[in-house]
Amino acid sequence: MVDKTSSKDLKLPSMPDTVRECLAQMYSLEADLNKMANLIQKDPGITASVLKLANSSIYGVGKSTSDLKVGITRIGMTSLMQILVKYSVENLFKFDSFDFFNIKAFTKHGAWVSQVAFELGKVVKTAQITDLLVAGLFHDIGLLVRAISDKVLMKKITETCVSEKIDFNSAEKKLKLDGHEVLGADLLKNWQFPDGVILLVKNHHTEEAFRSKNLTSEQNNCISVLCLSDTIAHRFGNAYLNYYRDTRVNSVDLDKLGISNQEVSSAVKLATQHLQHY
Ligand SMILES: [Fe+2]
Ligand SMILES: [Fe+2]
Repeated sequence: MVDKTSSKDLKLPSMPDTVRECLAQMYSLEADLNKMANLIQKDPGITASVLKLANSSIYGVGKSTSDLKVGITRIGMTSLMQILVKYSVENLFKFDSFDFFNIKAFTKHGAWVSQVAFELGKVVKTAQITDLLVAGLFHDIGLLVRAISDKVLMKKITETCVSEKIDFNSAEKKLKLDGHEVLGADLLKNWQFPDGVILLVKNHHTEEAFRSKNLTSEQNNCISVLCLSDTIAHRFGNAYLNYYRDTRVNSVDLDKLGISNQEVSSAVKLATQHLQHY
């Protein structure tokens, strides 16, 4: 029997100001670039990353810029959030790798899921597109909460994944632990994330038949898009090396959402393109 980490033992780091501000900007109708640029300026690493992407072949418009505000405008809030999450998550959650599980693969996986979910969210025409994008980035954050809160238990989970050839969700169930989606939702609640994001994160391993009956069809569709995007990211190798997970895309699920194979392919293509500098 494994000792269960109770939620009071969890280490919940505080949300970085840059992430808080970017989130507020993403949800507001009028973006305040000055505020954003002033915050980012304090961090040379983030500044360099923004400018590098802004001057890359994807966003560069022939003229190189060293102006952070111009850079942010070029790359947009989506890419900015991906950069901020990469930096802040790497700073907030410091741990040595657990078997196949490491922070670099983690942040890349989140960025991929978020980009694919964003593209597929457009296909299903959801009004919750920002929630999907943010939830994609943070969907597995509960794994990091556990990694810094209880190293022994995290090691046990990754070892179970390896020896049983199963994924995180199955290993947590096998060890009778709270799932990482629950720990993640707790952290995001603590960080006062929008309810829509928390709902998505909390349900990212729950099949529709097992979800609350009170959800709207829009909410259910968004959860399904997030689950699908997670599977697609794993399918195209944007996750952990030597990690076992079912990567089959269920065509019934696609049909239900009204997403074609063609649309999946183009979402993958766009994610590959957007995240080539990641
Ligand atoms: Fe997950
Ligand atoms: Fe995932």
